[in-house]
Amino acid sequence: MKTILAPSILSADFGRLAAVVHTLDAADCDWIHMDVMDGSFVPPITFGSHAVAALRPLTKKPFDCHLMIDHPETQIVAFKDAGANRITVHVEACSHLHRVLESIREAEMLAGVAINPGTPADTVLEVLELVDLLLVMTVNPGWGGQKFIRQPLAKVASLRNAAPQHHIQVDGGIDPETAPGALCAGANVLVSGSYTFSGDPKERLDALRSSVCSISAS
Ligand code: DX5
Ligand code: ZN
Repeated sequence: MKTILAPSILSADFGRLAAVVHTLDAADCDWIHMDVMDGSFVPPITFGSHAVAALRPLTKKPFDCHLMIDHPETQIVAFKDAGANRITVHVEACSHLHRVLESIREAEMLAGVAINPGTPADTVLEVLELVDLLLVMTVNPGWGGQKFIRQPLAKVASLRNAAPQHHIQVDGGIDPETAPGALCAGANVLVSGSYTFSGDPKERLDALRSSVCSISAS
């Protein structure tokens, strides 16, 4: 399974997001990960669909929108209209997870489901047929630059067995030190925020790619 790099703009300079997206467009990455936070599900507030719409004309790379928000069902049409390609919602934020995921599909976007480090893996098994991506958080959501939590890799391994064809994404503390272990466990989509923007993003993404080039998820 191809390794997909999805740099997160969360750790980029928000004063020059257009230039950041141009840089990522020219870099070896596959998707652009957008961390949407609402000050409720997680304490910080980042940005919403208006920012996604403003950045959409700048690249053809898929926008992978990670909604760390309560009531994500209220935002699906807005993100579709903004040009989002993928929407991932948290099981912890959805009272009616199945219905929310159906709505994302009805809006003709790809759907993903995310679990926090403290949430068991089997919560997503009931909705496998509605998603093509399982996001296993390797930090508690809300902030970039946190320390990688290793324990969720056991969930990656068990989900890889249950869902051999799904994308399995890891998000939080991913860098060339932690990425190989995540891929060995079965992940194939790497989100990287603070590592990508702690230097030249093109060079950082090349280094991240190199760190995992000899590993392919089974
Ligand atoms: C955390 C976000 C992540 C964040 C990761 O809540 O979901 O996508 O950008 O940042 P790093 O790579 O710095 O852990
Ligand atoms: Zn994220």
